[in-house]
Amino acid sequence: MTKSNYDAKASELVSKMTLEEKASLLSGADYWHTKAVESADLAPHMMCDGPNGLRKQTGEEDMLGNRESIKTTCYPTSAAVAASFDTDLAEELGRHLGAECRRENISMLLGPGLNIKRSPLGGRNFEYYSEDPCLAGTMAAAYVKGLQSQHVAACPKHFALNNQENRRMTGSSDCDERTMYEIYLSAFEQVVKQADPKSIMCSYNRINGTYSSENHWLLTDVLRKRFGFRGFVVTDWFAGKDPVQGVKAGVNLVMPGMSDYQKTEIVKGVKEGTLSEEEVTRAAEEMVSVLLWTDDAPEERSAYTADDDLAFAVKAAQNSAVLLKNEKAVLPLTKDTTVLFTGAFAKEPRIQGGGSSHINSRRVLNALDEARKDGLAVSFAEGYSLRNPEKNGQLRREAVTAAENADVVVVFAGLPDDYESEGFDRDFLDLPKEQNELIGALLSTGKKIVVVLHNGAPVTMPWKDQADAILEMYLAGDGCGRAEINLLYGKANPSGKLPETFPLRIEDTPSYLNFPGDSGSPEYKEGVFVGYRWYDTRKMNVLFPFGHGLSYTSFQYANIRADKANLIDQETVTISVDVTNIGDLAGAEAVQFYVKDPASTRRRPEKELKAFRKVFLQPGETKTVSVTLNDRAFAYYEVKIHDFIVETGDFLVAAGSSSRDLRGSITLHVEGTRKVPVHFTQHSPIGEILESSTGKKLLGPMIMDFDNKTAEGKSSLCSGSERMQKTVFRQMPLSAMLLMGRLTQEQIDRIVEKLNASEQ
Ligand code: BGC
Repeated sequence: MTKSNYDAKASELVSKMTLEEKASLLSGADYWHTKAVESADLAPHMMCDGPNGLRKQTGEEDMLGNRESIKTTCYPTSAAVAASFDTDLAEELGRHLGAECRRENISMLLGPGLNIKRSPLGGRNFEYYSEDPCLAGTMAAAYVKGLQSQHVAACPKHFALNNQENRRMTGSSDCDERTMYEIYLSAFEQVVKQADPKSIMCSYNRINGTYSSENHWLLTDVLRKRFGFRGFVVTDWFAGKDPVQGVKAGVNLVMPGMSDYQKTEIVKGVKEGTLSEEEVTRAAEEMVSVLLWTDDAPEERSAYTADDDLAFAVKAAQNSAVLLKNEKAVLPLTKDTTVLFTGAFAKEPRIQGGGSSHINSRRVLNALDEARKDGLAVSFAEGYSLRNPEKNGQLRREAVTAAENADVVVVFAGLPDDYESEGFDRDFLDLPKEQNELIGALLSTGKKIVVVLHNGAPVTMPWKDQADAILEMYLAGDGCGRAEINLLYGKANPSGKLPETFPLRIEDTPSYLNFPGDSGSPEYKEGVFVGYRWYDTRKMNVLFPFGHGLSYTSFQYANIRADKANLIDQETVTISVDVTNIGDLAGAEAVQFYVKDPASTRRRPEKELKAFRKVFLQPGETKTVSVTLNDRAFAYYEVKIHDFIVETGDFLVAAGSSSRDLRGSITLHVEGTRKVPVHFTQHSPIGEILESSTGKKLLGPMIMDFDNKTAEGKSSLCSGSERMQKTVFRQMPLSAMLLMGRLTQEQIDRIVEKLNASEQ
């Protein structure tokens, strides 16, 4: 059936409901269910968290993952999935989750989370994709497509500007219009336009003072009208505010439902005339249409077993790991290398974050057991304790002694649970002191040191220059340990790329002075300069740049080209580059395409990611990687017209292996067809007036005079004075001509009138 069939059926059902029944449908029955409406034969539907597994609670319920949920597979968190730069993987993840939802009778999965990582301190960054909207939106769209292929509704969250945990339920994210559209709303726009999610979760916070759950501009003007959203809006848990304002703004379902408050207030609103019954009917219909779609799952369901799910979790972890450093090819290790594994995470890896996304794992694979299963020459020393800090000194000394008998030491480090989680932001970027001390002590043994990291967001690495290899696993889900052994010993070749910049220190980060903001209401003063847009524009040193990730093989880029050299902004352009695997091992490369506008009239980031593709290559193999860019790839958001616009000019399109490793670029001339209208007043600067042809005609004759030109057109001033004279004159308001006695008020008024008429 098509959407209009579900819509028609929904209106038919809703037409049988009383006002009270419709109003009651607009809040949940409990933590996880919608309400039943018997007269319309509508059953309750269940939803659950998301995003990296199912948190289905059948007993006591809670929204923070503290109470029991069913045992299931925990997949890599979104930070890791983003690092794969692999849309097929994200889609496959969605399919696995969708199939499991079907088995568990779940109609809607609360994910993916796609808020932009404004600061690496954001407590929930592990649950989000990236600092870049193109990467976040594209990965989210693939996940949604996979999930919804099983007729399970996705629920991208948290719309919008929920970029910190500090005061997440009351703070106001104060942000300018251009930054919202270019950065914070953009990933949501992509997921809506590319994947048609059946639901969206609105965030707790306020945006420029208005709660998302009461925000008509956000939920109706932007989401429905501008982006074309066709599903229903659910509030984050306990984010509902005034029920009448909520319905008017575009909220369909307030969750959870624990009282009659919502229903009573809506009925009262209709009776008192502050809300029309049509608005209630519309809200109910939008939601019922989706519920009917979820009921309509095809009989044939994909039959993944728990083993299939775990095997996929291993594959996903493998494809997401990022090899940050590999000096003198210390990795991959060989079977005969004598290796010491140290660090508690070798036995008990941290595989996920805390809070609503927390999964009750069926089975977690750890590196030590997996190494032993493979009969590898690995010994173990705990190195540090996750539970008994008083033992750390002793454990470190034991690890240093054990290192004497090893050729290579692999340190399993990372952030413990109480360092990053939903509900609070991180205090600092560092790893726990005892882990840095352990790595430092091991480095002084002179052995080869490999560090394997388990963390949901960037950390500092005071030992980066001395360590021989660094493998970033992120929070990699149940398959973590198996993936680690496959990667460390070369059964799998690392192919992940950083979906965010690793800064050198927190003081370097763009939002440093405004995160989390005075009294929890952050001002987004860094504007569009988020992540690499900030570091690259300011040419700052970083620990590891956005998009960075090594492989056990190497790739060569050649022959970047476009199918046209000139285009007008409504056209698309296809960019291609040939990528060759010039090493001895098969491997995959995530090719990134960045656009630069070297001569914009607006301050724009030095470069922006506009597309990417991951390609798998056998040794010696070459493949052509192509992407198609449309006008948005070249556009910026112009507040004067409240829309995106392309400025006519030459743009650079570069293909790269990271944001700081561009391997080739071409220049394209793009003709913008829209103009930013200028409104002139008598106080408009003369220079601005001279930029228009009418202005030049009207004021031109006077310029000679002010430029102090001689009759032969030569300047009568020395060059410094000439520049000053010109600049000052061009920055003067037109009205100054009145004081100079050059123009009368009437003449000025006529000039302004003519200028504005010519702009129409
Ligand atoms: C989180 C949501 C989650 C909901 C239900 C809230 O605390 O912000 O992401 O889906 O709880 O557990």
